[in-house]
Amino acid sequence: HLLSRRQRQMCIRDRTKVVPRINVLRLRTFFYFYEGGTMKYNRPRGTVDITPENSEKWIEMEQLLRTVAANYNVKEMRTPIFEHTELFSRAVGDTTDVVTKEMYTFKDKGDRSLTLRPEGTAGIARAYVENKMYALPEKLQKVYYMGPMFRYERPQNGRQRQFHQFGVEMLGVESPYVDVECMLMAVTIVEALGIKNIKLHINSLGDDESRTAYREALKNHFRPVLNDLCEDCQARFEKNPLRILDCKVDAKNPVMASAPRTIDYLSEKAKAHFDKVCSLLDDLEIEYVVDTNLVRGLDYYSHTVFEIISDDPKLGAGSTVGGGGRYNGLVEELGGPATPGVGFAFGMERLMLALDDEEDEENGIDVYVMPLGDEARDLAMQIITMLRANGFTCDMDYAGRGLKGQFKSSDRFGAHLSIIIGEDEVKGEYVNIRCNHSKEQSKVKLEDILSYIENHYEGDHEHE
Ligand code: HAM
Repeated sequence: HLLSRRQRQMCIRDRTKVVPRINVLRLRTFFYFYEGGTMKYNRPRGTVDITPENSEKWIEMEQLLRTVAANYNVKEMRTPIFEHTELFSRAVGDTTDVVTKEMYTFKDKGDRSLTLRPEGTAGIARAYVENKMYALPEKLQKVYYMGPMFRYERPQNGRQRQFHQFGVEMLGVESPYVDVECMLMAVTIVEALGIKNIKLHINSLGDDESRTAYREALKNHFRPVLNDLCEDCQARFEKNPLRILDCKVDAKNPVMASAPRTIDYLSEKAKAHFDKVCSLLDDLEIEYVVDTNLVRGLDYYSHTVFEIISDDPKLGAGSTVGGGGRYNGLVEELGGPATPGVGFAFGMERLMLALDDEEDEENGIDVYVMPLGDEARDLAMQIITMLRANGFTCDMDYAGRGLKGQFKSSDRFGAHLSIIIGEDEVKGEYVNIRCNHSKEQSKVKLEDILSYIENHYEGDHEHE
C-alpha cells in the first residue's frame, strides 16, 4: 500500500463525492437535451401528423366523399372549429361522456367559454338557425362537412384526441325516406371505398311519448340495484337514465343486459316510422340488423339511430366506423322553429384503417427530369415549366446527384417517363426520354418533347 489507510479513505470519500456529481451532471445534460428535444416540440398526445407519405390517401378519400355527396345532391357546409361551450352542453347533453369528460374547453381573452367542437351536428344545427336556412325555398336542406373534431379520450388504434369526421345532416323533413337516404349514403360510402365486413345496425329510440314511457321503464329496472352502480350512473338515474346504458364502468354488470329495450316502448307513430324504415331497407335489399342495444352516446337522438360496424381485424372487432340518427328536437332546442333532422358521421381515421393498403400506381407523376451538370439543369427547369404549363405533373432533381440516385427518385415518385439530359444532349439540343414501364428509350429533339409525351399518353389511353 502506497497510501496510508487515512489517505485511502479520503480517496474513496472523494471518489464517492465526485462520481455521483459527475453522474448527476451527465444525467442532467442528458435530460436537458431530452426534454428540450421532446417535450417542447412533440405533437400533443392523441394527435397525428399527416405527412406527404399518406396525404395522397387522405386527398383521395376526401375526393371520393365529395363525389358521393354530389351524387346524393348534398352540398358542403363549413362551420367554426370552436363554438360557445353552451351549444354542446345543450345539444349533445350535459350528462353525456362527450360533454362531461371529453371536451376541450377554454376561456378566450374576453372571458367567454369556448369549446373545440367534439362533433359536427350541433354546429350545423346552430348555423341552420342562425342563417335562417329553415326559410329557404327548398324544404329539405342536405349538407355535408369534413374536418377535425376534438375529444379528450384515451388514444388507441382508431381513437384520437384530434380526429376527422365526414358528416351529413338532412334538415327539414320528417320522413322515413330521409332516414333511409342517409343510411343509403353511408352504405354507398363504405362500398365505394371498398371496405368489406361491415354491418348496418339500426334501432329506434322513438318520439317523446315513447321516450317518456321508456325512461320510466328504465328507472323501474335500475331502482332496486341503484346502489351497485357507479357514482356517475347514480347521477344519470335522475337526470337521464338512458345514459346508464352506455356506462363504461358498469358495462359488464348483468343488470345492463336485462335492461328493457327501447323498441318495446315505441308509440304507435314511432313504431310506424321505424317499420317503414325497415321495409324500405328490405325493398332496396340493404342488409341490416335490428340491434336493440343501440342507444348512441349523444342526447339529441329520437326515432331511428344507426351505426356502421366493421369486423375488420385492423380496427379491432366490432369497431364503429360511423353512426347517426334522427334528432327531431334539436333545432327547436337551439332556439329555431321545430325542425326535424337526421344525419350521420364517419370517423375518417377509421375509414382509412379499414381501407386496403394497395399500392396505387396511378399516383405516380408523369415525368421526372434528370439533368447531369449545370447547363443540363437550366434546360431541365425550362422543360418542367413547359410540361407543367401543359398539364403534366413533373419534377426534377435539384440535389445534383448522379444518374443512379436520380433513377431512384424517379422510381420513388412512380414517374411514367424519365427525361435524361447530359452534356451531349445539351450540345446536340435533344434529350433522352425513357418509358419506365417498357424501358424503351428514345432521342427526342427539344422542340418535339411536348408532342412526344402527348403521343405517349394518347397511345396509353388507346391501349386501355
Ligand atoms: P359519434 O358516434 O359520436 O356521432 O361519432 C361518429 C364517428 O366518429 C364514430 O363512429 C367514430 O368513427 C368517429 N369518432 C368518434 N370519436 C372518435 C375519436 N376519438 N377518434 C377517432 N374517431 C372517432 C357523432 O359525432 C354524431 N354527430 C353523428 C351524427 C351526425 N348524428 C347525426 N348526425
